[in-house]
Amino acid sequence: MNKPNVYVTRSIPEPGLKLISESTNMVLHEGDLPPSRQELLSNTKDVDGILCMLTDKIDDELIANAKNLKVISSLSVGYDHIDIAAATKRGIYVSHTPDVLTDSVADLVFGLILSTARRIVESDQLIRNKKWTLPWSPTFMLGSEVYGKTLGILGLGRIGKEVALRASGFKMNLLYYDIVRLPESVEKELSVTYVDVNTLFKESDFLSIHLSLNKNTINFVDSDKLSMMKKSSILINTSRGPVVNESDLVDALKSKRIRSAGLDVFSTEPLNLDNPLISLSDIVLMPHLSSATLETRSKMSELAANNLLLVLQGKKPITIVNPDVVNSVS
Ligand code: DGY
Repeated sequence: MNKPNVYVTRSIPEPGLKLISESTNMVLHEGDLPPSRQELLSNTKDVDGILCMLTDKIDDELIANAKNLKVISSLSVGYDHIDIAAATKRGIYVSHTPDVLTDSVADLVFGLILSTARRIVESDQLIRNKKWTLPWSPTFMLGSEVYGKTLGILGLGRIGKEVALRASGFKMNLLYYDIVRLPESVEKELSVTYVDVNTLFKESDFLSIHLSLNKNTINFVDSDKLSMMKKSSILINTSRGPVVNESDLVDALKSKRIRSAGLDVFSTEPLNLDNPLISLSDIVLMPHLSSATLETRSKMSELAANNLLLVLQGKKPITIVNPDVVNSVS
């Protein structure tokens, strides 16, 4: 039997690459940069499956162009880069990699909370810039406490829940807002209190965003919401950059409307070098690394490969994005 043709848009950790190369005719786009639009279109034209990254735009044009396509497997939990409706309409499965990255993202949220509140990055830079010149002082580089503070979780899904569990260990008070309220038993288990969105912004000392990006959440955090926040508050974003209106955030930070921000995601990635966020020294910026541990990326690679291969064997992927596709397939 002929092996299926597969396009993998970037080198991925070994477990997934091995699985795919053993049972398909794999074309791998190697190197650090994503394929260009032209490369993406021409390399997916005749394939049965694509394993893509969040940097690859899998839109209606590409999907229509790929006449044999049966599966789009993304090595990411977010799938805002894929036109799900276009894939579903043509009977193409879309899968992603949730669960396996939940803990590493939740850990990093706490990395950002601690490094902004306790000024870890700022103080590291101070030493390297040879500005630690005075002995210990009771008023030097004061940060703010984390324990006992209120953490607002915007979107209490898989990752938001793990953030809540970690926050209890830090003795924080927990508020959340989501479009769907969780059952009381789950709220109790996580020690979280449901509030409306305005209360979340008003009451939080730290506000961590866990929304997926879609037409309802783009620019969700704008100047109106930022202006409700406490002056001492800190905004954490590990979801998707465009969920926050970035120029409104820059204004809020520059005018000291809020105290700081810990950001792993941006409206444009990589950040343009003239982005005003870069000149703000009291915030913490990371280049989209929330799931970037060897362990997690290996698990993402394996799951993305298994999702892809299962569909090519005529089965359903483990973590499917568009279950409705079953109706168009049969
Ligand atoms: C994702 O998977 O969507 C994260 O943003 C990166 O791991």
